[in-house]
Amino acid sequence: MSRPERGYGWGMPLTRSLDDSTVVITGASSGIGTATAYALARRGVAVVLAARSEPALRQVAQRCQELGGRALVVPTDVTDLESVRQLADRAAAEFGRIDAWVNNAAVSAVGLFDEIPIAEFRRVLDVNLLGAVHGIKAALPYLGAAGGGVLVNNASVLAEIAMPYQSAYNATKHGIRGLADTVRQELRVTGRGQISICTVLPATIDTPFFRHTANHTGRELAPPPPVYPPEVVAETIVRLLRRPRREAYAGGAARLIGLQWRLAPALVERTLAWYAHRTQFGPGVRMDSSGNVFDADAQARRDGGWHGRRRQLVRMTAAFGLAAAGTAVGTMAAITRRSRWVR
Ligand SMILES: NC(=O)c1ccc[n+]([C@@H]2O[C@H](COP(=O)([O-])OP(=O)(O)OC[C@H]3O[C@@H](n4cnc5c(N)ncnc54)[C@H](OP(=O)(O)O)[C@@H]3O)[C@@H](O)[C@H]2O)c1
Repeated sequence: MSRPERGYGWGMPLTRSLDDSTVVITGASSGIGTATAYALARRGVAVVLAARSEPALRQVAQRCQELGGRALVVPTDVTDLESVRQLADRAAAEFGRIDAWVNNAAVSAVGLFDEIPIAEFRRVLDVNLLGAVHGIKAALPYLGAAGGGVLVNNASVLAEIAMPYQSAYNATKHGIRGLADTVRQELRVTGRGQISICTVLPATIDTPFFRHTANHTGRELAPPPPVYPPEVVAETIVRLLRRPRREAYAGGAARLIGLQWRLAPALVERTLAWYAHRTQFGPGVRMDSSGNVFDADAQARRDGGWHGRRRQLVRMTAAFGLAAAGTAVGTMAAITRRSRWVR
């Protein structure tokens, strides 16, 4: 006999125990979505796996079943509202209800703002921001019908801070945060506070994301360190399902940089520009590519393999340490002098 989850956070938890719940995950064919599916399957959750690549989703579903969960594969393009509504319908038809929904699918186009083709810029908005809009629209009626539930938007620390060469992505992640805050307010004032809306703000995560992204920099891309494993985000999402909160960072560097940004935005903006300009690129040269922005990458992989590049990452992590320390010292000095550099 399963009991509802107890909630200690700011929102209402699931109305039944996690192991008895049905959770829909978009972007489940790779990276963080796959790691989240495995984390939930291990706890006996029924997971509904959505993304464009059906073969990749099938591999993930098979592993989920081996781990003890039930899994349903629903190939879905999140840019199409009707397709996302059908995802919700199929999840509820298969498992009887939907208790939680994770908006996780995303793409990116890396390059200077004036060098990202407008079609790609638009598509990043469509997948990341409108994809989340579609997910919320499809999920709310089912979460309401279940008597409550949790909706998690996997954003990024780039929903709070900004990094050069990521204008389209940054804009969508900032947008998701505003969207989530507004919908949460509306649910509360219209008597639907039993549905929680949570936003996750991860640091850099070791996933295939940096290989999938469109690239207009002429250079090989690398994740700005420190780089955390995808399980860090998966476990944050599991915690949010049990104890919903408005927002949760995933990875200590995200929390640190978020705090510094709030204290001294102008100074941290400059430091991050310097840092990202030096750490987002590997040594190789690359042709322009639109990556997986328009079409799926059929290879299911949970991690990005960046742990195999230890020497480079150690060097860049040291740069992060230097930048963080310098920013902290600068922030304190500037605050005490009330300098214009901090505001
Ligand atoms: N990696 C990081 O450093 C990092 C940091 C902070 C936040 N995040 C966020 O974490 C989430 C997952 O990213 P990740 O790192 O795991 O990247 P990833 O490995 O590239 O995974 C992205 C997922 O989105 C799916 N997707 C892309 N376009 C789609 C569409 N139109 N419809 C449906 N699904 C689509 C992809 O599957 P298909 O290609 O099969 O459709 C894939 O499953 C994203 O929201 C990302 O912004 C990542």
